[in-house]
Amino acid sequence: MRRVLINKPGSHDVLKLVTEADPRPAAGQVLVRVRAAGVNFADCIVRMGYYQAARGLYPMTPGFEFAGTVEARGEGVSEPELGASVFGITRFGGYSSHVVAEPWQVWPCPEGWDAAECAAFPAVAFTAHYGLFHAARVAAGESLLVHSAAGGVGTALLQLAAIAGCRSLAVVGSAHKIRLCRELGAWDVIDRSTVELWGEADRLVPEGFDVVFDSGGVETLREGYRRLAQGGRLVTYGFAEMFPRGKDVSLPGLALSYLRMPRFNPLELTAANRGVIGFNVVHLFGKRDMASKAMAELLGWIREKRIRKTPVARYPIDAVIEAHRALESGQTVGKLVLMM
Ligand SMILES: NC(=O)c1ccc[n+]([C@@H]2O[C@H](COP(=O)([O-])OP(=O)(O)OC[C@H]3O[C@@H](n4cnc5c(N)ncnc54)[C@H](OP(=O)(O)O)[C@@H]3O)[C@@H](O)[C@H]2O)c1
Repeated sequence: MRRVLINKPGSHDVLKLVTEADPRPAAGQVLVRVRAAGVNFADCIVRMGYYQAARGLYPMTPGFEFAGTVEARGEGVSEPELGASVFGITRFGGYSSHVVAEPWQVWPCPEGWDAAECAAFPAVAFTAHYGLFHAARVAAGESLLVHSAAGGVGTALLQLAAIAGCRSLAVVGSAHKIRLCRELGAWDVIDRSTVELWGEADRLVPEGFDVVFDSGGVETLREGYRRLAQGGRLVTYGFAEMFPRGKDVSLPGLALSYLRMPRFNPLELTAANRGVIGFNVVHLFGKRDMASKAMAELLGWIREKRIRKTPVARYPIDAVIEAHRALESGQTVGKLVLMM
């Protein structure tokens, strides 16, 4: 098999492609021959060495999601069928031509979706599903502000929010991202490269938001909190802004971002009737019932054509460095996948 190996975290050159013997599934496992693996912003943070859940795991292979065909089954496994097209989740190890997983980690590919489209789906879909329905517990009619709305998680949030009957105001960093947000159901879009974000948000939604989804994590948290309506929730789930776009991260830069991070006072939260909620789905890996229930709902919405495919940029596995560079540029829309 071929896989991307990070011996020690660092810049892009730590992403090495290695060839090894194919793994075998143990009892209770399946072996998936991977055709495509999803790339997430979190993988870049893993590569840099700042992803908490990856500490102590190097040398390691990044990647949370994959799609391919079932090549072998360990003892005691009767499903899925050999040769079945499946996609799945893994807690690291996805950037590989072969992934060993337990059957609960994989699902049949939806009809009409190719391997790249399937590999691009589960991580962001689970994140958006958890964020909307478990963390924020949105209700129909609520108004949302969604930052980085044209990215992987952002596009999933827009689609699932529309299914939930919510009205999303999308925020993007460049003009070429606007159209996709509208197509995915955003009520309106703010391009913060051309207008002042908060002035425009106040103009469009003067009554404030029920929920703000924030994956930038530094500049936008304080102002987002201020724009919450009564009973509003600020959902924080990422810190992309801590990393300089297209440049290597520096420790002093990270420390400065940490110091600039807002602190929320319980007295003030109570007086203002607002909440701040954080989550990371990586810590939910292994909660099989939760994963099965969420995916059953998501696959149902795909069948009903209420979830559509978002754009997927395909990179050969040998171009993994280019894929990371592209994601870190902040200019991509939809998802990126590595083709095996
Ligand atoms: N907590 C969880 O469970 C969980 C799960 C998955 C992902 N996440 C987080 O969700 C966020 C989105 O992840 P994703 O994989 O879907 O990525 P993505 O949204 O496809 O790409 C990242 C986007 O973030 C914005 N951005 C802001 N600062 C940036 C920076 N310094 N460098 C690059 N981009 C920057 C850019 O959009 P604009 O310029 O348009 O804003 C960029 O397109 C990340 O922060 C990730 O860590 C959290």
